Amino acid sequence: MPKIAYFDNSGTTAVAKEVLDEMIPFFSEKYGNPSSIHAMGDAAAAAVSGARKKVAAALGCMPSEIIFTSGGTEADNLALMGFSSEKKKVITSAVEHSAILETCERMRPSGYDVRILPVDRDGRVSASDLMKVIDKNTALVSVMTANNVIGTIQPVAELAKIAHEHGALFHTDAVQAFTKTDIDIANIDMLSISGHKIHGPKGIGALYVRNGVDLRATMLGGGQEYGRRSSTENVPGIVGLGKAAELAVSTMRQDIARMTRLRDTMIDGILTIKGSYLNGPTDGRLCNNAHFGFGGIKGNDLVLALSKMNIMASAASACSAGSTEPSHVMTAIGRSPKEALSSLRISSSRYTTDDEAEHLLTSLPKALASLR
Ligand SMILES: Cc1ncc(COP(=O)(O)O)c(C=O)c1O
Repeated sequence: MPKIAYFDNSGTTAVAKEVLDEMIPFFSEKYGNPSSIHAMGDAAAAAVSGARKKVAAALGCMPSEIIFTSGGTEADNLALMGFSSEKKKVITSAVEHSAILETCERMRPSGYDVRILPVDRDGRVSASDLMKVIDKNTALVSVMTANNVIGTIQPVAELAKIAHEHGALFHTDAVQAFTKTDIDIANIDMLSISGHKIHGPKGIGALYVRNGVDLRATMLGGGQEYGRRSSTENVPGIVGLGKAAELAVSTMRQDIARMTRLRDTMIDGILTIKGSYLNGPTDGRLCNNAHFGFGGIKGNDLVLALSKMNIMASAASACSAGSTEPSHVMTAIGRSPKEALSSLRISSSRYTTDDEAEHLLTSLPKALASLR
């Protein structure tokens, strides 16, 4: 039996050893401020610049189009609150992360007309629903690349094209999707990523901003990050994000294939348990996500029962873990509050082993039996 079977990788991931090794000198030896003009400042600035190139290469953009932030949340906030437009309509979807939905709510009192697109039973936004609400007054459309709860991959290329045809900008939250599915930034104006979902550190993320997009800083001060995000750079974090992106991309094809195989083994195995069903799609789903409902139990109780067996999973998403409210994603796909609260998210990573999957498959029926 593995010591710990970790299936909460959509919540956060282990920092890869190679990432940690590259970060460590920037805490205690190479601790210069990138803005300082002396040699130590230069070394820190060079490290930041190297990491920016790596993140840009992973996304297929120019280094100058990458703005480092404190995480995916800040990248989402910056995209929504920083874009500049005379137009006042913003369109997003019902299954976005709260970093998007809460920010949209905050924009309403400033006169923004925020429209929330529905999703189908698989959690997917449709182009036809976007067509119904988009018009020439639309400033921005923001739809996530893949969902953090049920793993649905959205048709972002199609949605972005529609946004552009109407003169609107297109932003996507790719925090869960980055390095787990192909991302084509061709029609994307802004895109958010986060370090700790890709075996990088917590507290670092980035916003890709296509050259030419008028994005104003929301954090004002020393003018770092091309004047778009002030504050002394988190050099170790930035170095870590750069390395994590480089590493993930270098093995992305084989990792996706392996995670897909593991996911499907777990889906097949878990669906043999009486009363279980899959939430989210069978096709067009993140390679590392499986999300189930089980009649007659509470998801949080199941997470705790599994934890006693050294299996770490989650009921919905880590940021809403422990919540007694049904996930907005589950209600958006038409699940009842009761169904929404009886669910379990299994999310793997490139380091998840067959042993961990086996441990989960043999333990889950016992955990369920103990609760029923
Ligand atoms: C889809 C999505 N967006 C944004 C975030 C927030 O990222 P961070 O934790 O880096 O602020 C998360 C984290 O769970 C996420 O899953």
